[in-house]
Amino acid sequence: MTRRIFDDNEAMARAFAEFLAKKSSENESLTIALSGGSTPKALFKILSNDYKDTIDWSKLHFFWGDERMVPPSHEESNFKMTDDLLFSQVSIPESNIHRIKGENELVEEVSRYGKEIEENVGSQNGTPSFDIVMLGMGADGHTASIFPPDIDLINANTICAAGTNPESGQRRVTITGTVINNAKHVCFLVTGAGKAEKIDEIFNQKADYLAYPAAHIKPNAGELIWFMDESASSKL
Ligand code: 6PG
Repeated sequence: MTRRIFDDNEAMARAFAEFLAKKSSENESLTIALSGGSTPKALFKILSNDYKDTIDWSKLHFFWGDERMVPPSHEESNFKMTDDLLFSQVSIPESNIHRIKGENELVEEVSRYGKEIEENVGSQNGTPSFDIVMLGMGADGHTASIFPPDIDLINANTICAAGTNPESGQRRVTITGTVINNAKHVCFLVTGAGKAEKIDEIFNQKADYLAYPAAHIKPNAGELIWFMDESASSKL
């Protein structure tokens, strides 16, 4: 496991953009599962402003680690956020974008998206293996849309599952920890003082750290990198 700590979100995002550019230059194609929420916004702006012409976007096949069950036009849609800030700014084939269809019925979409991953992502030991899984972490220690009450999804024997934000009750589709931990490169991007306590507890195995899904992200054979800013890592 590698820790990479940066002055602020912008510097962290720039470092991950460089990581992604390097991986895409080293490979004919890459499958990447994106995280949602607010942290990736700085990254997507940097990618669309500074890597628009240096990354061969046709090599990148984008999926999501999770999505809110809302239409793609909804303000809370992870797809909408990514489309507004990145896909609408770079030339990427439509067929390279594999969105979770938040407008669909939840159980059907869990099954449909699982099949889409199975058909488009290479597998390792019979389980899909993304080249890169990008993750955020909530202040409650959730990651993707695996929240503490659903911690069993870390080892679920399915590709995707239904998740629930316990605060809002919002339903989600999420990839399981089984798929996350089967990736070649798992990269957390975590910023802000609000995450510092959980980062401390997870890294120093303190308090209820085992109750946090993010604490159970340990790639089987792949690389785990924690990209953090000073604020998020301030208690380490
Ligand atoms: C989502 C995300 C989720 C997110 C964390 C951190 O759909 O909300 O995938 O797992 O990464 O909640 O969110 P912030 O980046 O907004 O702090």
